[in-house]
Amino acid sequence: MRKLIIALAFLLPGAVFAAGGNVHLDKAPVDLTDKASLQRGAKIFMNYCLGCHSMQYQRYQRTFSDLGIPDELGQEYLQFTGEKVTDYITRSMPEDNAATWFGAAPPDLTLVNRVRGSDWIYTYLRSFYVDESRPFGVNNAVFKDVGMPHVLQPLQGTPRLTHEETMIDGEMKEQFVGIKTDGDGALSTEEYDQAVADLVNFLAYSGEPFRLQSESIGKWVLVFIIVLFFFVFLLKKEYWKEVH
Ligand code: HEC
Repeated sequence: MRKLIIALAFLLPGAVFAAGGNVHLDKAPVDLTDKASLQRGAKIFMNYCLGCHSMQYQRYQRTFSDLGIPDELGQEYLQFTGEKVTDYITRSMPEDNAATWFGAAPPDLTLVNRVRGSDWIYTYLRSFYVDESRPFGVNNAVFKDVGMPHVLQPLQGTPRLTHEETMIDGEMKEQFVGIKTDGDGALSTEEYDQAVADLVNFLAYSGEPFRLQSESIGKWVLVFIIVLFFFVFLLKKEYWKEVH
């Protein structure tokens, strides 16, 4: 009996957690080798997210050089708040004000991809929908009652939970067909998905900037190990020479 209780105690949190995560997540097409996508993602981040969210563990300069952007170009097109290129990517909004305005402070996004995963962020940014009962007039299918407004609405257009009449078992029935926009955004649905994919790609990079380099470093590590092996081998021969 005691064993059963202990087993249940372990199983229960898992079951609750699984029940909460019943939203289907779309696969984010992350590709850290796609520099053009990372650059476009950085541009969207600086324009649409940095007003509220910081990326305070990353410096502008490191980001520019990792993404293949010359410092002067980066400063002109991606840095708006007059910091030095060697500064961290911080925001100017005070923490407690933000919490009052939005009900929750916008978290730093440097590591958000490692916390939430890229599929979650990709789906989240495409899951806002009109809900007049909320303070900003929007809700989110992945993050219920989220405090964040739909800042990408000018790009996506006005997203609505959409039901369509479909024939089921010989009867016309209203069926939920997902979130569709009024088509009043600057981008088409495919273009918006691509823009979000670029943004998520950039957030995936910021969480693990070393991944960009690890591949090329990896090669040198292998070369080093081979060279080292050669010397260790010579050393071994040298040691055992006298023993035999
Ligand atoms: C107007 C301010 C504002 C802007 C601009 C903004 N956000 Fe947010 N964001 C918030 C707030 C506030 C929260 C916290 C919401 C909550 O906890 O209810 C949040 C939460 C998030 C979260 C969830 C974090 C977590 O793990 O809980 C992600 C991801 C996110 N924002 C991404 C973005 C991205 C990407 C952009 C740029 C396209 C952006 N945000 C622009 C205010 C903003």
